[in-house]
Amino acid sequence: MTAMLDAAERLGRGELEALQLERLRTTLRHAYDNVPFYRNAFDRGGLKPEDCRTLADLARFPFTAKTDLRDNYPFGMFAVPEHEVRRIHASSGTTGRPTVVGYTERDLDTWADVVARSIRAAGGRPGHKVHVAYGYGLFTGGLGAHYGAERLGCTVIPASGGMTARQVRLIQDFRPEIIMITPSYMLTLLDEFERQGVDPRSTSLKVGIFGAEPWTEGMRREIEERFAIDAVDIYGLSEVMGPGVAQECVETKDGLHIWEDHFYPEVVDPFTGEVLPDGEEGELVFTSLTKEAMPVIRYRTRDLTRLLPGTARTFRRMEKVTGRSDDLVILRGVNLFPTQIEEIVLGTPGVAPHFQLRLTREGRLDALTVLAEARADATADEREKAARGIAAAVKDGVGVSVNVEVVDPETLERSVGKIRRIVDLREKESGTG
Ligand code: DLL
Repeated sequence: MTAMLDAAERLGRGELEALQLERLRTTLRHAYDNVPFYRNAFDRGGLKPEDCRTLADLARFPFTAKTDLRDNYPFGMFAVPEHEVRRIHASSGTTGRPTVVGYTERDLDTWADVVARSIRAAGGRPGHKVHVAYGYGLFTGGLGAHYGAERLGCTVIPASGGMTARQVRLIQDFRPEIIMITPSYMLTLLDEFERQGVDPRSTSLKVGIFGAEPWTEGMRREIEERFAIDAVDIYGLSEVMGPGVAQECVETKDGLHIWEDHFYPEVVDPFTGEVLPDGEEGELVFTSLTKEAMPVIRYRTRDLTRLLPGTARTFRRMEKVTGRSDDLVILRGVNLFPTQIEEIVLGTPGVAPHFQLRLTREGRLDALTVLAEARADATADEREKAARGIAAAVKDGVGVSVNVEVVDPETLERSVGKIRRIVDLREKESGTG
């Protein structure tokens, strides 16, 4: 097993930290010299790149936020001349300008390496066939997975997202061992397998590598059981690289090892920005250690998690992301993440693993309705019981009252990529109040 690991995966903690510090100092210098945004930010704080003498010194440097990337649209964050940029990706974002990211040839090489390492940690081996159902295009999911799978020596099936009936046919005909897909789109495939009368447990698939959106242990159980595969988590974001920043190992399934030789993680208090000790939950922040085209210094991901010690690898782990601060619903003073509802819906008999959260305003108060889809064979009585069960579990577990509607099978919108869990109807109704 050890022989298959990259050299960096075999470093001891001390060696790794020495490598991180050296790379960090180079990155700070590169950003300062080549990106006016960073030069100004460091100057404002009275900081020079050399002031980072230990890894802990990084905490003295300013954060970078998504708005900083937007303000420097399109290429203002690039640290190399434009002709050295080999690829551009962008995330659409819901408001305003997209966030643009760039890669040099060496960056693309690093990216392929970390995704190859991720697929191997998930159980993929050279010679395996990998069905990539992440979207291809400006989104980093498809192409990121693609080049990583090739780098590992796999055969890639670049299916991209959508055309669900065809996905099912391709899986049956081409017989891939691995699928890379969002967990919500995997559930859409599940319906399609059943619609075509194919047993989803009978496919050639052995491992699913799921990411790009939060998903729970309940969802893992559901997918593993229904498809008879191992389901592991892959994390990443375009600003830092794309998929392959962190990956769960199939033998432990205990959170995601961060590829710390390329991405330096911190967890900070989302309100004060103070760095928290490992083990405490807060907002994940990344500094790139080897990126050339677009280094990022202390980039605030808005993803909430904790850092944990290494297990299957010496690299530290991040706990499965429970939610993004953007997805937090504050309902009558109680904090609620869609993943909490996911756990409850998936543990309730009579309902399918499809749900949506609808936010409305009743008078001065916000109200949340959980729409959960009945299983095809559920009786009226079971549906009624499921609705009461979900409401009680939310009240008990989260501490707030919600409305629950169990709707007919196949009525909720299906995902073909990242699913939208929250439908916010409040603005329209709130008037001037
Ligand atoms: O979603 C990159 C990616 C593609 C990761 C395919 C994994 C697989 P963005 O579109 O920039 O990049 O969105 C990044 O998605 O900050 C998280 O909020 C969320 N996210 C990504 N992976 C996970 C995961 C890609 N495994 C944002 N668990 C991130 C929870 C995830 N959330």
